[in-house]
Amino acid sequence: MHLKTLSVVNFKNIKEALIDFSPRLNTFIGNNGAGKTNLLDALYSLSFSKSFFSTSDQLNVTYDENWFMIQGKYLRESAEETVVYGFQSGQKKLLKRNGKAYKKMSDHIGLFPLVMVSPSDASLILGGSEERRKFMDGVISQYNSAYLEDLLRYNRVLLQRNNLLKKAAESGRLDNDMLDVYDGELTYCGFRIHQQRKEFVKNLKPVFQFFYSQISGGNEQVGLVYQSELNRQTFEKLLKESLACDRAARFTTTGTHKDDLRLTLAGYPLKKAGSQGQQKTYLVSLKLAQFEFIREISGVKPILLLDDIFDKLDKNRVEEIVKMVAGDRFGQIFITDTNRDHLDTILHSVTPDYRIFHVSNGKIEAIR
Ligand SMILES: Nc1ncnc2c1ncn2[C@@H]1O[C@H](COP(=O)(O)OP(=O)(O)OP(=O)(O)O)[C@@H](O)[C@H]1O
Ligand SMILES: [Mg+2]
Repeated sequence: MHLKTLSVVNFKNIKEALIDFSPRLNTFIGNNGAGKTNLLDALYSLSFSKSFFSTSDQLNVTYDENWFMIQGKYLRESAEETVVYGFQSGQKKLLKRNGKAYKKMSDHIGLFPLVMVSPSDASLILGGSEERRKFMDGVISQYNSAYLEDLLRYNRVLLQRNNLLKKAAESGRLDNDMLDVYDGELTYCGFRIHQQRKEFVKNLKPVFQFFYSQISGGNEQVGLVYQSELNRQTFEKLLKESLACDRAARFTTTGTHKDDLRLTLAGYPLKKAGSQGQQKTYLVSLKLAQFEFIREISGVKPILLLDDIFDKLDKNRVEEIVKMVAGDRFGQIFITDTNRDHLDTILHSVTPDYRIFHVSNGKIEAIR
């Protein structure tokens, strides 16, 4: 699967663009603020029917305009497919595949798989546990729609249970029948969520460690551990054990909504022990493992977006990454950089099949 052409109108600082891509490597060169990341976001939006950065379509319309349109022509299972994603102020977003609107936007997810590697991934290391749950949930729900339903149901029941605990604290009386119903639902969904996350991390970890070792030269040990209270005890027992605590706190203190991932370097927390380049290597490896995971499950090589990949990494690591993504394991790649020199030297020695685009002030021009 790859994107053959892209047409963009009024998306952020890109007023108008029509671009033909290479089925393999595409690079965008331009100064800070030129529109390179905006272009990648347009590609991301076609696959996910939302921007990577903001949930508001209105924010993505070019200033002083009131609509945007992104159109991509893909080659997918040897057929040409067109995806259109558009938005007009005050109206619902529009998403069409081959001229037909979707009944459910979620039916689109996974058909044109894509993995974005962005500097903002740093929040996975620096942010709270919610970021790491979001990472797991985002990947798993791309190939497992039942998981997404479990997650939504879990969150709904969690909210109801928390309301019940609040009411009990105010009135001094707990509705035990209702609590049993909520606990039953939570236990059912939580068990399934836990199983899926455990399986996901188990499969992702060796692939992630392989990529980290390839990129870093193999002398650094990285770890990835799924942490959940459900690892040590059934959810049913956990809820019973913590009831007194939950009543005092007025919310549910145990469950899969507290899960986390422990990221380590040489056995120490990556957040403290990793240098900036090591942290970046960790993130890139994690995202490449995500790529591999989706490829295995869907049988399709996702589109890979590498934004600002050269920042903070030394020459050897950059070269290893570019060599790897130019290989057969990967499909169509989009890379951004502020400086052409780095890329030209590496790409020449790696593959002849690449295109370079120059980006300036929202305008995109092919230069190779
Ligand atoms: N809705 C919008 N309308 C017009 N311009 C916008 C809009 N949203 C963002 N921009 C502009 O887009 C520019 C940022 O573009 P982008 O993030 O793609 O830059 P970049 O080429 O990736 O730069 P860097 O090398 O710094 O990462 C900013 O100057 C910003 O003002
Ligand atoms: Mg950028």
